[in-house]
Amino acid sequence: MAIARQRIHLPPAAWRRAPGAVLRGDLSDGPQIAEFEQAFAAAIGVPDAVAVSSGRAGLRFLFDGLNLPPGSEVICSAFAYPVIPYLVRQLGFDLKFVDCEMHTLGMDPDKLREVISERTAAVVVTHLYGVPCRADEIAEITRAHGALLIEDCAHCFGASVGGVKTGAIGDAAYFSFETSKVINTMGGGMVTMRDPALGERVRKAISAEPAKGLGWLLKRLLTTSFEATVTHPLVFNLGVYQALRWAPRGPAEEDRFASGYHGDEVSLAGKMGRYTNYQARLGLAQMKHAAARDAVRTANAERLIGQLRDRLQFQEPAGDHVTANYMLVAALVPNMHEVSYQLLRKGIDTKHHYMRDCSGMFETGDTFPNAVRAEREVLHLPAHPELSTAQIDQAAAKIAAVVDALGVSRRDRQGS
Ligand SMILES: Cc1ncc(COP(=O)(O)O)c(C=O)c1O
Repeated sequence: MAIARQRIHLPPAAWRRAPGAVLRGDLSDGPQIAEFEQAFAAAIGVPDAVAVSSGRAGLRFLFDGLNLPPGSEVICSAFAYPVIPYLVRQLGFDLKFVDCEMHTLGMDPDKLREVISERTAAVVVTHLYGVPCRADEIAEITRAHGALLIEDCAHCFGASVGGVKTGAIGDAAYFSFETSKVINTMGGGMVTMRDPALGERVRKAISAEPAKGLGWLLKRLLTTSFEATVTHPLVFNLGVYQALRWAPRGPAEEDRFASGYHGDEVSLAGKMGRYTNYQARLGLAQMKHAAARDAVRTANAERLIGQLRDRLQFQEPAGDHVTANYMLVAALVPNMHEVSYQLLRKGIDTKHHYMRDCSGMFETGDTFPNAVRAEREVLHLPAHPELSTAQIDQAAAKIAAVVDALGVSRRDRQGS
């Protein structure tokens, strides 16, 4: 059996809850939104949380509520989700980048120290793939400079640094509840903040957004059902895998499922509006099981990494005080495209080109060698919680065989 890169689920009872929400008239508004916000704030350990219609909309509302002067300097990690720096620039801020470190793939605090100044109004850090960046050190640096720290926690629900949950380390944070994320409410997200007055401003701005209706609900149910179907092991093996396996290799060897990310593609269209009460019910139900799922996901990730660490360098937490949720396992693989292609032939589907060296997409004049290398080498290996330990061991053995056959070795052990 081939193993898919990821498994997408329909949130439990997503279809079953839909008619009730429509008939009761609480699809859009209802008490579960406040209940979900309070449960979320308590889980993260912050005074307030506000449900939003997407992670990126959350960042937009945070910036609006923060009232930073136009043209303020905002620093982002060079290796991140490209939509975020595009949005920062669209909002009229002076965008600067700082390189990532190869260990956590997050912003390098030492490099931030060289760049941050009294001009810096905010720093946006991304906790990529469920492994936190060194946000505790970065928070100290931003505070010393009077700048705000915003955490991109799209991947990082449930992770922590020094016992503090990601999302509670900086001044504010945004989470995403898209279908591939740890909490999946078929879209949506949450913003968290230390300052309840900011929460109130965000809430007020969101109340002016249009409500979502039946058309939105049907579209989300159908698209999520499609994603769940094609990543189901049976359908994946009978159809999707065969198509991927036998498709001709593209000249640029791009990942067919990766987005292109061009400036004109970045917009908030379809990502705004209000979070629905229906989604809040789905979110509340999932939060109850999140810790148990985290434990399985982490066990699978650590089992896979443990078997391959001698051969490949992995993204890993900065120390024992850091807990990851391993939403995705990221290996740094020289010759990544060839390894990915050979793995596919052996039944292991992998994912690449999800994050980019964002500095390469803007004319900043600077180059960030670690971000360049991360974009070229990060390959996501399957370790999702639905895989059995036998499947993890089988995947590890096949990856080891391909890596050995291609003569790939850990670059950090080659002295480069
Ligand atoms: C790291 C990161 N930040 C932000 C976002 C944006 O979240 P959303 O799609 O909910 O706007 C994503 C989406 O995948 C992401 O991966």
